[in-house]
Amino acid sequence: ASAAALALGSGAAMAQDRVIGFSQIGSESGWRAAETTLTRMQAEERGYDLRFSDAQQRQENQIAAIRSFVAQGVDAILLAPVVATGWDSVLQEAHEAEIPVVLLDRMVDSDPSLYLTAVGSDLVHEGEVAGQWLVDEVAGEECRVVELQGTTGSSPAIDRKTGFEQAIAGHDNIQIVRSQTGDFTRALGKEVMESFIQAENGGRDICALYAHNDDMAVGAIQAIKEAGLTPGEDILIVSIDAVPDIFAAMAAGEANATVELTPNMAGPAFDALEAFWADGTEPEKFIQTESRLYTQADDPAGEYEARKDLGY
Ligand code: AHR
Repeated sequence: ASAAALALGSGAAMAQDRVIGFSQIGSESGWRAAETTLTRMQAEERGYDLRFSDAQQRQENQIAAIRSFVAQGVDAILLAPVVATGWDSVLQEAHEAEIPVVLLDRMVDSDPSLYLTAVGSDLVHEGEVAGQWLVDEVAGEECRVVELQGTTGSSPAIDRKTGFEQAIAGHDNIQIVRSQTGDFTRALGKEVMESFIQAENGGRDICALYAHNDDMAVGAIQAIKEAGLTPGEDILIVSIDAVPDIFAAMAAGEANATVELTPNMAGPAFDALEAFWADGTEPEKFIQTESRLYTQADDPAGEYEARKDLGY
């Protein structure tokens, strides 16, 4: 049955009858792996049949997966969109098939009427929190920042950059001197950081690294160590996600701060779908998850222990 039909009268359908298509971006980061694990766990707990598709970072694979889910007549589609643009046609197809789509963790530029809701954090705010941490930390001292951006064209890369720039605006002591994508991966984070170090007097002219995710920061930490510098001291490090490996680095004094992004996007998404199926309740268009800052003062060793088994 279509979601609209279910919403209008057969909301008592058993959870076991629900088929959910999940178009995941890939496995570029520890955070992404945890989101996949938690989505599977949530689906299993609720008795859903979850059909999982790994797009390996390619939008065309996601579009093909959504078309396949529509052809299969699934009850709902979860979409973590790799980039923000280019979704109108395929979302329109799902809409015409009356299959609700819920966006997870990244946003699209399409008309909001084409999806039921989006679950995610305020990505601009995350960048602001990271930037404000640095403003406070350097307390007026000169600071040359290098930036590792996320996947080009993705909403977190766009918004986290904007938020950080907003936070440092008006603080002329802080300047972003180099900025390049590391595609949210550890390997590219290391590689790009190596080139920043080479271009910046062996790294000695870099005061801080802002990485749009923890995995790139972890790769960069390795590059900093290989250059004979001490990460967390010679170069301050602030990033986003709060994955176990960044807490291990913080506990070792090699990273300074991270902004949490919860990997449990599926829980609120399924809650919204269940209310919609039950009686047609339309959720808010954006269901916001919390973002909080962790520093070395926040028991990073304990945070590592608490998270290490969550599929990161
Ligand atoms: O969209 C969320 C971002 O995607 C996470 O910060 C990053 O780790 C992931 O790859």
